[in-house]
Amino acid sequence: MARINFYEYIVFILFSLLILHTFSIIAHSKKLDEKQPCKRFVLYYHDILFNGSNAANATSATVANHTKLGNFNHGMLVVFDDPITKDNHLLSPPVARAQGFYFYDMKTAYNAWFSYTLIFNSTEHKGTINIMGADMMGEETRDLSVVGGTGDFFMTRGIATFRTDIAQDDYYFRLEMDIKLYECY
Ligand SMILES: *[C@@H]1O[C@H](CO)[C@@H](O)[C@H](O)[C@H]1NC(C)=O
Ligand SMILES: *[C@@H]1O[C@H](CO)[C@@H](O)[C@H](O)[C@H]1NC(C)=O
Ligand SMILES: *[C@@H]1O[C@H](CO)[C@@H](O)[C@H](O)[C@H]1NC(C)=O
Ligand SMILES: *[C@@H]1O[C@H](CO)[C@@H](O)[C@H](O)[C@H]1NC(C)=O
Repeated sequence: MARINFYEYIVFILFSLLILHTFSIIAHSKKLDEKQPCKRFVLYYHDILFNGSNAANATSATVANHTKLGNFNHGMLVVFDDPITKDNHLLSPPVARAQGFYFYDMKTAYNAWFSYTLIFNSTEHKGTINIMGADMMGEETRDLSVVGGTGDFFMTRGIATFRTDIAQDDYYFRLEMDIKLYECY
């Protein structure tokens, strides 16, 4: 009797280990799946800075000018209501608006900090995506955080990767935003 119990015990242990192992494999593969975005799209952001003579087309304005610290616009704060398009043409019909602000915050290089909401109000999407983070303009691509959303983007989180598509004179620049959402409901 004692012998049988011993074998039963061994079988029980092995079986338990097998179950644990299976669970850990499932958990691990789920974790890998979670690293793939549940939604991904590319949008273009157009910023036309008000310069005193382009009021008809300007979409942003300086509300506090730069300080005298360094030569990279340190302290300059810009509030924007910018059109967002699916391709990189300024005059394409906008699919959303980007409303928020950026300011330059570095003494030794151009470096900005963004905080804004993408507002979608079309037949395709209704809702908002909130984005914030550092735009280290010297880098080819920069990752900002998608910190939340509403409507079609309820409670979302993810990454918005910026790439400067064009920077023209002092009054127009265009960013490509590659938006990868990792939480979708
Ligand atoms: C506004 O943009 C249009 C189209 O690009 C251009 O024809 C017009 O001259 C611009 N107006 C101003 C005031 O910049
Ligand atoms: C202001 O910006 C417009 C384009 O938006 C440009 O055509 C014009 O030359 C600029 N004016 C000055 C004074 O830089
Ligand atoms: C900010 O200051 C610069 C000179 O440093 C000036 O050319 C520019 O017009 C000012 N911008 C505003 C919006 O006051
Ligand atoms: C969204 O679009 C509809 C239809 O064009 C309009 O009636 C509504 O006011 C818009 N809502 C916002 C928040 O812009």
